[in-house]
Amino acid sequence: MTQDQQHTKRDGFSSAFGVLAATLGSAVGLGNIWKFPYLTGANGGASFLLVYLMATLLVALPVMIAEITLGRKARANPITTLIALAPSHQPWWLIGAAGMMASFLILSFYSEVVAWVFAYVVKALSGSVLSSDRAVTEAAFHSLIADPVQSLVWQWVVLASMGGILLLGVSKGIEALTKKLMPLLFLLLVLLCAVSLSLEKAGEGLAFLFNPDFGKLTGAAVLTALGLAFFKLSIGMGTMMTYGSYFREDQNIPSTAVRVMAADLCVSLLAGIAIFPAVFTFGFEPAAGPALVFITIPAVFSQIPMGQALMVVFFVLTAIAATGATLSLMEVPVLILQECFFLPRRRALALTLAMLALTGSLCALTNSTLSGFTIFGLNLFDLFDFVSSNLILPAGGIFIALFVGRVWGFGHFRQALSNEGQLRNETMARVLFFLLRYVSPLLIFLVMLKGLGAF
Ligand code: PFF
Repeated sequence: MTQDQQHTKRDGFSSAFGVLAATLGSAVGLGNIWKFPYLTGANGGASFLLVYLMATLLVALPVMIAEITLGRKARANPITTLIALAPSHQPWWLIGAAGMMASFLILSFYSEVVAWVFAYVVKALSGSVLSSDRAVTEAAFHSLIADPVQSLVWQWVVLASMGGILLLGVSKGIEALTKKLMPLLFLLLVLLCAVSLSLEKAGEGLAFLFNPDFGKLTGAAVLTALGLAFFKLSIGMGTMMTYGSYFREDQNIPSTAVRVMAADLCVSLLAGIAIFPAVFTFGFEPAAGPALVFITIPAVFSQIPMGQALMVVFFVLTAIAATGATLSLMEVPVLILQECFFLPRRRALALTLAMLALTGSLCALTNSTLSGFTIFGLNLFDLFDFVSSNLILPAGGIFIALFVGRVWGFGHFRQALSNEGQLRNETMARVLFFLLRYVSPLLIFLVMLKGLGAF
């Protein structure tokens, strides 16, 4: 296949709305429904939320715009993009290589959390988890994650379904499905919020989420908030560069990025408002960690008529949201293997899945067979998450910002951002360029040093 044919084939985003939906499909996922609430809970609530917001606006949004712009300019995978746009012999393509590694690390634990969501669809159908009794919902979750067979088999089911979707080429179908079903997830979250807000200790939950207490804010928490911003917007590892390569020439990149960021934030806040009032009312622990959503959500559903059916719908929709994000994560290594190593798409996909079955099992078994195994005090699930979200993605962000701010330069950036002069967004280009050149890299660097305890 020639380069041109590949482009025509890749050019899947045919309408402006399609671009928005697909980018949103990558951003909105378990990061919003699972990770955001549990990290906010574990890091003290409102102060963490505030830092997260600042990290999103000052750092993540400019980096997201930079990534999409670079990808659209070069119309290739992250490695080829950076080789094409950098002066020869400068190894900026290593950002793409690091991104490929991050993709494997993230998918290894992400696919396991999707596995829990799949398992919860079945549990919800059987009615076995619908309860406001903490002991019941906690026991249901722990019996799932502590069972090596269930953990592995569900992960394989997830990997096989994702592989199937990509192989059958029904990703367009998934996109169409996502477009239709995401509003439904949104509505269901709004309903959950209404139920949660009517609970006895709703005030305590809201205070936890919205009244900052900066005493609880550590350097590590700030780094976690930054890493979360990167993770939620799928940036720092080439995913948005890859999606940028599918963007239309006339797409307004900054406005698309802002909309994606705003919608992503909305979904996270709704998830937070649905969860924390219930956490306080039913006596759960806000710092319960990865278990938080899985033990709290059933308790909220237990309070409403048709709760069981709605809970099934909730987990199905969450699985669909997670699918969009998973597909975008897989697209990074698959496209690199295709374009840089000249593998046919099927083989690139098979290799990616085989690797994932291996590295993913290390995460699937952390709560059973490998439960005593830790490195730097972290089990492999948490270690993969920490290394990818708090190290590789922010470091990738530093280098992407530096690349645009110091190497690519303002002229190219402005030209690409304005769709070759079609849009009048010079001032915005200047502000973004200033942030990318001076603010974002320095801020990320300082937050990383502080978070890792260097000062
Ligand atoms: N943004 C996704 C989520 O919030 O669930 C996760 C993700 C997707 C992270 C793609 C990184 C990525 F490249």
